Amino acid sequence: MLSCLNNEDISKTPESSRNGLDISTNVISICFGSQTGTAENYAHEIANFLRKRGFLVDVVDLEFFSKASFAEGTSASPQIALFLLATYGEGEPTDNAKTFYEWVKSEEARFPGVRYSVLGLGNSQYEHYNTVAKDVDRLMEARGAERLSQLLLCDAAGGGGDEDFAKLVDMTFLFRLMISAGRWAKEVSRALDTLFHVKDRKGYDDQPMATRKNFYIQMFESEEAATRSNKKLPASSAKLDHVTKKLMKVREKRELQKSGDRRFLHVELDLEDKEDAYETGDHLAIYPENKSSLVERFAVRTSIDLDKWVIVRDDVAASPFPVPCTLRKIFTSYLDLNCCVKQDWLAFLAELALSDDDRRNLNWLSEDSFSYQKHIVKGYKNIVDVLADHKSVHLTLENILQILPRVQPRYYSISSSSSSSPKQVHLTLKVLEEEIDRPGQSMESRAERRFEGTCSSFLSCVHVGCSVQAQLRRSPFKLPKDLSTPIILVGAGTGIAPLRAMYLEAHHAMKISGVNVDIAFFYGCRKEDEDCLYREEMESMMDAGVINSLHFAFSRETSKKIYVQDRIRQQRTEVAQIMQKQGCIYVCGSISMASEVRRAFVDVLISMVNSDILSKLLTNKQEGSEEAARERLRNLQATGRYQQDIWS
Ligand SMILES: Cc1cc2nc3c(=O)[nH]c(=O)nc-3n(C[C@H](O)[C@H](O)[C@H](O)COP(=O)(O)OP(=O)(O)OC[C@H]3O[C@@H](n4cnc5c(N)ncnc54)[C@H](O)[C@@H]3O)c2cc1C
Ligand SMILES: Cc1cc2nc3c(=O)[nH]c(=O)nc-3n(C[C@H](O)[C@H](O)[C@H](O)COP(=O)(O)O)c2cc1C
Repeated sequence: MLSCLNNEDISKTPESSRNGLDISTNVISICFGSQTGTAENYAHEIANFLRKRGFLVDVVDLEFFSKASFAEGTSASPQIALFLLATYGEGEPTDNAKTFYEWVKSEEARFPGVRYSVLGLGNSQYEHYNTVAKDVDRLMEARGAERLSQLLLCDAAGGGGDEDFAKLVDMTFLFRLMISAGRWAKEVSRALDTLFHVKDRKGYDDQPMATRKNFYIQMFESEEAATRSNKKLPASSAKLDHVTKKLMKVREKRELQKSGDRRFLHVELDLEDKEDAYETGDHLAIYPENKSSLVERFAVRTSIDLDKWVIVRDDVAASPFPVPCTLRKIFTSYLDLNCCVKQDWLAFLAELALSDDDRRNLNWLSEDSFSYQKHIVKGYKNIVDVLADHKSVHLTLENILQILPRVQPRYYSISSSSSSSPKQVHLTLKVLEEEIDRPGQSMESRAERRFEGTCSSFLSCVHVGCSVQAQLRRSPFKLPKDLSTPIILVGAGTGIAPLRAMYLEAHHAMKISGVNVDIAFFYGCRKEDEDCLYREEMESMMDAGVINSLHFAFSRETSKKIYVQDRIRQQRTEVAQIMQKQGCIYVCGSISMASEVRRAFVDVLISMVNSDILSKLLTNKQEGSEEAARERLRNLQATGRYQQDIWS
């Protein structure tokens, strides 16, 4: 059972005991369905917020939900469950929410005596916007549960409830989400106050999400001392182990292209475990490490001895890290030192500042969203930078564990074919590096002037022969079984990754079984000699007869920007013929590119109706409308003939 921290001064009316609910014994479950950690991090933030308001809260990874826990509620003493759910793929749940989602959809699920609320995390540029959250919200009610507060949807693409604010400031998704999550948390909290009959709560709207979980830390000189001192070591939390991470050895790494500050890498990893197998089109999750220089800077600033061994227990006596573990391991592999500092951390740091100037500045940044955007988000400030700017903030090890989020895996589309390289996985990635503009600060060293993405810079630094933690992940992005089906591949930038896997797969099939493959490839990048990845390989595939037509779109070669969607429109006759022959289309790249490409295919479908190709077949003029073309594209998608592998 979680302890109740810093309860506000609240009073209950006698009714609260009469309806059977007691703020000090009834636990609120905050359940998250998360793939890359956003929903998970916010589940913890909202838990902290509700704890501060006196509620007992448990954060539940939906991987480990129990059906029984939903059966225990009654209308007099309901089970209370809050859901934070992300949507993935083609409107699918996250890996950890799959079983739960299937169960909620099944007729067997019944939720009488359950009070709930849902926060959805999605992106409206995807066809199936926030489907999982919408489904769970609807089905829970249909199956007998009662809503505590309305479904709230967060949109990574902007818009939605925060549109007015978004106009004022160029907000990042995380920042918009923070506002939406905060609003949802407050609405839920009000509903809980009503349910628990809490009266006289002061100041609903000015509570920072700041109260944090307790940690109990024992420190040792050696691993042996740590193990010897504890007869009963705490269990390491399941969250760490539920993913079957594997060590994969880097067998090759090379720079594909380098122009100016943009670098692209080709990385090959060995699948050493006999059990490991993937299919062409799958993804690989990489668990990155923080840079050792960043870990050292952090240790110096916080006076932490990285070589000490620790056993950490949380409120429920589980350890969020391996038991025992060095602090170096924790700050290298488990806690994220490079991510952007959030506003509520700044409020927490302000409480720990010894100087008035630091406290004032931190409070200002935590309260003034525009200044926060300008100085923290746009300045790419991580915790080490913020501590360097505010020297009087003194953090204990427990404070640090209370603030820092876990390092999240990054996903990569595998760029090798499982038929030609069954025990190797290739990745194609851009190293994320940005020049930093920090107003009013002089930054001398190049490292200080540059933001480096955690995972891409980790992969760019890792040496051949070293191992990285990774996990294979299934994706629905799959070639047709019959490889003689005509195929259109459309990609831009590193979006070439799974498309390369596909032409290599087709090449392999051609060599082994003599199948006649027919691929039209549309590839977009900036310039022919800058970032045209795998150009020679693509041309050799043309010579081998795997790729029948290759159309490059260079956006910065001439004064007129040319994109893949322009090439598709230019080649509409060829594209239409492939579509008419029941061809399959594969699109990979950014969300915005994918939506432009979709529009181009809609145009091709319209032109097919208006040309000879379809007009003979269609008697109804409506068939030539844009809506009808969109509907046909949706049908192609539903039947697997139009597939997308896209990321922001
Ligand atoms: C299904 C899928 C497939 C993918 N396939 C590929 C692929 O094949 N090739 C490829 O190159 N990529 C691919 N990606 C993207 C990849 O997963 C990573 O997102 C990408 O490599 C960047 O990760 P990173 O850790 O280097 O950057 P991160 O450290 O995660 O940074 C990403 C962004 O977060 C923000 N940010 C982070 N830290 C801060 C800070 N301190 N202050 C302010 N802002 C900050 C910045 O906007 C930054 O640009 C794929 C993604 C998905 C979901
Ligand atoms: C590969 C990929 C597929 C996605 N598919 C969808 C989708 O179909 N519908 C949607 O609303 N959002 C989709 N999203 C957006 C995510 O749901 C959103 O980024 C969310 O914040 C992720 O939360 P998480 O970090 O907790 O996993 C997708 C994101 C990625 C990277």
